[in-house]
Amino acid sequence: MPKDTLTITDNRTGASYELPVVDGTIRAMDLRQIRTGSDDFGLMTYDPAFMNTASCRSAITFIDGDKGILRYRGYPIEELAARSTFVETAYLLIYGELPTEAQLKEWSGQIAAHYMVHENIKKFVDGFHYDAHPMGMLVCTVGALSTFYQDSKNIFDPPSRLHQVYRLLGKMPTLAAYAYRHSRGLPYAYPDPALTYVGNFISMLGQRAGACEPFVPNPVLERALDLLFILHADHEQNCSTNAMRSVGSSHADPFCAVAAATAALYGPLHGGANEEVLKMLREIGSRERIPDYIKRVKSGELRLMGFGHRVYKNYDPRAKIIREAAHSVLEVTGSSPLLDIALELERIALADEYFIKHKLYPNVDFYSGIIYQAMGFPVAMFPVLFAIARTAGWIAQWQELLLDKEQKIARPRQVYVGHPPRAFVPIDKRVAV
Ligand code: ACO
Repeated sequence: MPKDTLTITDNRTGASYELPVVDGTIRAMDLRQIRTGSDDFGLMTYDPAFMNTASCRSAITFIDGDKGILRYRGYPIEELAARSTFVETAYLLIYGELPTEAQLKEWSGQIAAHYMVHENIKKFVDGFHYDAHPMGMLVCTVGALSTFYQDSKNIFDPPSRLHQVYRLLGKMPTLAAYAYRHSRGLPYAYPDPALTYVGNFISMLGQRAGACEPFVPNPVLERALDLLFILHADHEQNCSTNAMRSVGSSHADPFCAVAAATAALYGPLHGGANEEVLKMLREIGSRERIPDYIKRVKSGELRLMGFGHRVYKNYDPRAKIIREAAHSVLEVTGSSPLLDIALELERIALADEYFIKHKLYPNVDFYSGIIYQAMGFPVAMFPVLFAIARTAGWIAQWQELLLDKEQKIARPRQVYVGHPPRAFVPIDKRVAV
């Protein structure tokens, strides 16, 4: 009879060990018993960048990268994109189930009631230089919220935790809009709790200074941004989520943990790839120049930005949905030569042997930058939009971490490769190295 175990023979000692295999994993701590003697610490795994290490058991997001599947709480991303809203999806991610009508009303109402930020936040934003990056401003202001809400330290008190969730979801768009208006030299526009989550955000960005009439967003653009927020709401254990969980594991308050996650998202390897796609499409410039560009990619001179993914070795399901959305946005905003180049580039690359062999398909960033640009967002705001949406996933993952009895403060091991012990050298005897 096959057994769900793994037998390991240590050739250093000849000893044999049988370890249980659960959900396709062995427990790293089970390796600790494998020792060569009493002064041996025990066997560890070495896994820089967590290439093959599960850091948690999670019931939030499922990805099958080979098949191109993404599900939140079991629901296919395609269905959520077609039938849900970002606010409803955030509820699903955080509570684990879709809300009833009454639950959704209460949820949306509570989030809207927390759109407003303390007036002192404006002073923080005012303090930034005129060309400060909005992501830097967002990292600082969301971290600063921790000082306004001292009760947020009560992370094991469910009502208090829920209060912070409302605050975080409600205030992230306001902080983002303040950062945007500051970088444009515009007065801050107050949020309007009567508007939808995304409608309110667009209105805070677009409100004309001194205008009496409220800014009314175009419904097609509002829906497209809501859709993009759904698609970016969670993506299991990525770099920023890992930062959220790692900081959360020390029991820091959620505002500090979201500041850390936002900082992780700021990096060009994570939240900044769609900007690179725009640069690339502009550099290509016309459909005729695509074959030449592909040649340069195949020779190893360049990477095709917006193609390839660590997890997806198939079409990123989010890219398919965004590709469709790009068409409806451009019907409103006017056509973009960049979309024509992107579509042709995709067509040529997907038929090319190099891309087929390397399993390189468009990822979420291939089309999202085109939509954001068509909607009038400056490039620096792209990762900010990502951060607003991903806050829902960060919160869900943080809450799961706190309620998981197996979790402790995140504290990886290392393989020390430095000097062996040596005697201190007095300063007059040192030689410059
Ligand atoms: N263009 C051309 N070749 C590529 C590309 C690409 N975009 N991506 C990977 N390859 C090739 C590599 O050259 C390598 O080829 P080789 O085996 O012949 O040497 C092979 O595919 C594997 O590449 P790795 O870098 O090992 O793949 P990894 O899983 O580490 O990288 C990554 C994934 C970083 C996303 C990569 O595909 C890439 O750089 N893509 C472009 C940037 C991009 O679009 N990033 C956004 C990702 S989505 C997100 O973060 C939200």
